[in-house]
Amino acid sequence: MARENNVLLSVRDLHTWYELRKWGFVRIGYVRALDGVSFDLRYGEALTIVGESGSGKTTLLKTILGLVPPTKGVLEFAGQPVHAKNLWWLRRQVGYVQQDPYGALPPFMNVRRILLEPLVINKVGRPLEREERIVEVLEEVRLTPVEDFLPKFPHMLSGGQQQRLVIARALVLRPKLIVADEPVSMLDASVRVEILDLMRRVQQAHNLGVIYITHDLSTVRYFSERVFIMYAAKVVEKANVREIVHNPLHPYARALLAAIPDPDYENALKFKDVPPGEPPSLVHPPAGCRFHPRCTQMIPGLCDKDEPPDFEPVPGHFVACWLYR
Ligand SMILES: Nc1ncnc2c1ncn2[C@@H]1O[C@H](COP(=O)(O)OP(=O)(O)OP(=O)(O)O)[C@@H](O)[C@H]1O
Ligand SMILES: [Mg+2]
Repeated sequence: MARENNVLLSVRDLHTWYELRKWGFVRIGYVRALDGVSFDLRYGEALTIVGESGSGKTTLLKTILGLVPPTKGVLEFAGQPVHAKNLWWLRRQVGYVQQDPYGALPPFMNVRRILLEPLVINKVGRPLEREERIVEVLEEVRLTPVEDFLPKFPHMLSGGQQQRLVIARALVLRPKLIVADEPVSMLDASVRVEILDLMRRVQQAHNLGVIYITHDLSTVRYFSERVFIMYAAKVVEKANVREIVHNPLHPYARALLAAIPDPDYENALKFKDVPPGEPPSLVHPPAGCRFHPRCTQMIPGLCDKDEPPDFEPVPGHFVACWLYR
């Protein structure tokens, strides 16, 4: 069914709640880190998810990868429902690019071993084919000449080269989907664009689905077609990049985008700067719209009572806000 619609990943009403415990065993509540997220990602599509710290971005990726179990909801990959028993199958087809490249790489393995390991574990190819595959991915991420890099250990590489290696490792099993958690936030500005360009190139070369997570709205236009804005464990706005940049609808997204007049990458807005106020507690989230305590256009008796559904004021542009009812 999903395959007919060209859907690679289907996420329905996904909830991930972490248990909150006192003294390690008395459960005193839940952190609702992901609270009802639904979307479809097509084969070969790049999607960016933007949200401030603590909005649930990493939790969403980890839930998709099966690293944390969902509390509720359905996940389908390539038309197959994902459950505990086929996680190995899922993980083989999803490459993970972590936020901190150095922390993600085993310090005691050289480049060759790091790339060989997933092939051996997953019993992919014969020994010679494995060596060929390693050379192929290293060339693809431009760690060349390959012979120079094969014996190197992670600490001998620059931050940008480490991130290229993490991307190479994510590609080595020839996945259908890459999930990248703030892949450039730890890198210098000059290297950031290079890495985003590299990801874009491999995405197009292999028709990969990509979910790119960032808290930095200024990198959005470098990368994807569609953008989701996350706020307090929910997706509050979904649209294509041009729409989000030129016509943001949610008061939260509008506040963020109003602050990016400067085309210079470095001077552009970082999420932490706006809007004023604190994100809500995810243990006791506010009733109604979760943004209402910070919202300047709050409608009393509505926004603080009822949760807004997705409205579609512009075709293909969805926003969970009562202003568009
Ligand atoms: N293992 C855990 N146990 C309990 N709470 C957790 C756990 N992991 C994350 N949380 C909480 O869940 C919420 C969402 O966290 P998450 O890491 O998904 O946010 P994020 O959007 O990735 O933030 P950042 O931009 O800082 O990486 C936060 O309030 C966080 O404190
Ligand atoms: Mg995170």
